[in-house]
Amino acid sequence: MNPFLIKGYISPQYFCNRLSETDTLISAIRNNQDITLFGHRRLGKSALIHHVFHKLQKEFVCIYADIWGTSSIEEFTRELVNGVISSKVFARQRFSEKLINLLKSIGASVSIGMDGLPSVDVIYNDRNQKFKSLEELFKFLNHLDISILFAIDEFQEIKKYDNQIPFEGKLRSLTQQSNNIVFLFSGSEQHLLNEIFNEYKMPFYQSTRMVSLGKIERNAYYKFIISQFKKAEREVKPEIVDHILEISHLHTYYVQAISNFLFSQETAPSGINEFNVLFRDFILEKSVFYSELPERLTKHQFSILKGMAKSGMMENPNSAHFMEISNIRSSSSMHRAVNSLLEKQLIIKDNDKLRLYDVFLEHYLRYTL
Ligand SMILES: Nc1ncnc2c1ncn2[C@@H]1O[C@H](COP(=O)(O)OP(=O)(O)OP(=O)(O)O)[C@@H](O)[C@H]1O
Ligand SMILES: [Mg+2]
Repeated sequence: MNPFLIKGYISPQYFCNRLSETDTLISAIRNNQDITLFGHRRLGKSALIHHVFHKLQKEFVCIYADIWGTSSIEEFTRELVNGVISSKVFARQRFSEKLINLLKSIGASVSIGMDGLPSVDVIYNDRNQKFKSLEELFKFLNHLDISILFAIDEFQEIKKYDNQIPFEGKLRSLTQQSNNIVFLFSGSEQHLLNEIFNEYKMPFYQSTRMVSLGKIERNAYYKFIISQFKKAEREVKPEIVDHILEISHLHTYYVQAISNFLFSQETAPSGINEFNVLFRDFILEKSVFYSELPERLTKHQFSILKGMAKSGMMENPNSAHFMEISNIRSSSSMHRAVNSLLEKQLIIKDNDKLRLYDVFLEHYLRYTL
């Protein structure tokens, strides 16, 4: 098996470091503190949540709900119920009257999947009682005599629902009343999370501990990669590992994906040059994802993107050198275009510098300039 996962979580064996982040989360959870975990996309928030679940599985019943793509309170509730059904709560309460009553009372239509496990497709809500199903769900959980860790991933999605403020108020009061549940909210769109947790007039204002997730420390990642190759009795050149950490900006998903790619080679490249030849094909294979990009951007935005791809990290977009390579004359156009690229999440701030959010796009642009 390829030890470099590019989705999900299996066990600590495939998980690199995050020692202090794991300790922080576990200690907060054991002390009943609700948490908001935030950080750039693809840095490893969801994997960290599952790692924490793994460590706490004897103390807590862990429930995971990913609310990405939900657009209403009904869909939110459906994902939470599905989280409950696929957790150990279900294993314990499988055919209990309580659980069946819950599903009935929230008007859930249940289907059985290929794996033999049930899941909820739709929740038929009484229009006049929008929050009833959610209340029933929490009543059910609160009456179970167990400690629960409830993670709600992509939590910023609630900002996209109608009736957001009353909904946040309701959710906040349900979470406040749930003494046996610790909540772990997680997400990546920081401005939306800030609106939820850091705005004085909003229901969740300062109600959770904010934990920001950064990069994995370089040395730890280096050792992890080398050790995965060693365990599999496969050869790897240390300079290639160093090179991967460099070209990926240590952005977790990209480190994993490139390491996965390197591991999948039948004959190990003998050095960086040989690796680069293979890597070029790997990147160019992704052109389907990127070929339409110029149509989504203005000329200015696209030329800045290309300029940034060329230089990797960008300290000051207003420098004469950068203005020249991106072919932009005035610093006000530069300012405007940079802001809109940040807004579109095509570029990010990384240690006070700017770079492309998508590391593969950076390399793709570099190869196709
Ligand atoms: N500490 C780690 N060690 C090894 N692999 C990791 C680690 N953290 C995350 N990964 C891997 O990196 C990839 C991205 O992680 P994950 O999906 O958890 O990121 P995320 O921050 O939740 O992203 P998104 O914001 O897109 O949901 C996954 O393939 C995951 O398996
Ligand atoms: Mg995630």
